[in-house]
Amino acid sequence: MQQKHKTLGEFIIENQSEFQYSSGELSKLINALRLAAKVVNHEVNKAGLVDVLGAAGDTNIQGEDQQKLDVLANEKFIQTLSNREIVCGIASEEEDDFISINSNDKNHQNKYVVLIDPLDGSSNIDVNVSVGTIFSIYRRVTPIGTPVTLEDFLQPGRDQVAAGYIVYGTSTMLVYTTGHGVNGFTLNPAIGTFYLSHPNMEFPVDGKIYSVNEGNYIHFHQGVKDYIKYCQQEEGDRPYTSRYIGSLVSDFHRNMIKGGIYMYPKSSVTEQGKLRLLYECNPIAFLAEQANGLAIGGRTRVLDIQPTELHQRIPFFCGSRNMVAKLQEFLEKYH
Ligand code: AHG
Ligand code: MN
Ligand code: MN
Ligand code: MN
Repeated sequence: MQQKHKTLGEFIIENQSEFQYSSGELSKLINALRLAAKVVNHEVNKAGLVDVLGAAGDTNIQGEDQQKLDVLANEKFIQTLSNREIVCGIASEEEDDFISINSNDKNHQNKYVVLIDPLDGSSNIDVNVSVGTIFSIYRRVTPIGTPVTLEDFLQPGRDQVAAGYIVYGTSTMLVYTTGHGVNGFTLNPAIGTFYLSHPNMEFPVDGKIYSVNEGNYIHFHQGVKDYIKYCQQEEGDRPYTSRYIGSLVSDFHRNMIKGGIYMYPKSSVTEQGKLRLLYECNPIAFLAEQANGLAIGGRTRVLDIQPTELHQRIPFFCGSRNMVAKLQEFLEKYH
């Protein structure tokens, strides 16, 4: 594998000119994420051996119990990103407010803000099932050299300059886009190097997998219920296969490779949905569109939603084009 495939480091250098502002800073930022990914991968892989399983004893701003690995991954990503002179602000699922970097130094030239879900799929940590990390990168909109403000983080998803995820699965992969398609890199753990194993990843236009927490079926709105029934009907290539890991990253990754649709609808008990717009839905939606798929939040394109809050939630549907288009037909019926 090592001989045949390009390394992530080589790929970043070769593709640097694709970046709209190609000063090399975005490359440095992807490099920093690559480093943090390796550190977190190391922690996740030995989770059963050291005392990092279970609850940390605190809750995050959204009322979720933080797991020890949520806290650890959060620390590692923040440390790695703050140590480089590239990032001016970080927002994280596990931090109530955004973090301003070098805010007292008028000379700092850092242009990028990063939004992260440090550990996605927390409920899978203790049972040795795939988890992930999601990241989203924007250029700041406020003047360079001043402290970042909330405005720098509340940008619509279509303005992302890069986004991606790391999936800590049967192998560890880093998958990202800078708006020129989606590329996936697999970590060779023996030598700690990521190799380009999945160039130009694309959703099949049609798929046969639907992924949703069906335990919540009773609370879903009628359009979603009808679409789920459609997936289960015996006709043509249906019934489809149901696959739900409970880790957005892993469910998305599988569906992108095999063809499928992921759904986390709003319901009568969670009127806003569950997934967070800024560090879960937007980066995944950017990847989905770059991989020839679709991502909608209810009836609108996710990337066009104007965020209003750092930890805002939205209903979220994404996947193969034809599947999302079919779902949309069902959603429209009830509007
Ligand atoms: P996180 O672990 O970062 O809080 O995210 C959990 C999210 C997402 O990864 C997953 O798809 C979804 O929650 C699962 O929710 P349910 O257990 O309600 O199905
Ligand atoms: Mn969480
Ligand atoms: Mn998550
Ligand atoms: Mn998380």
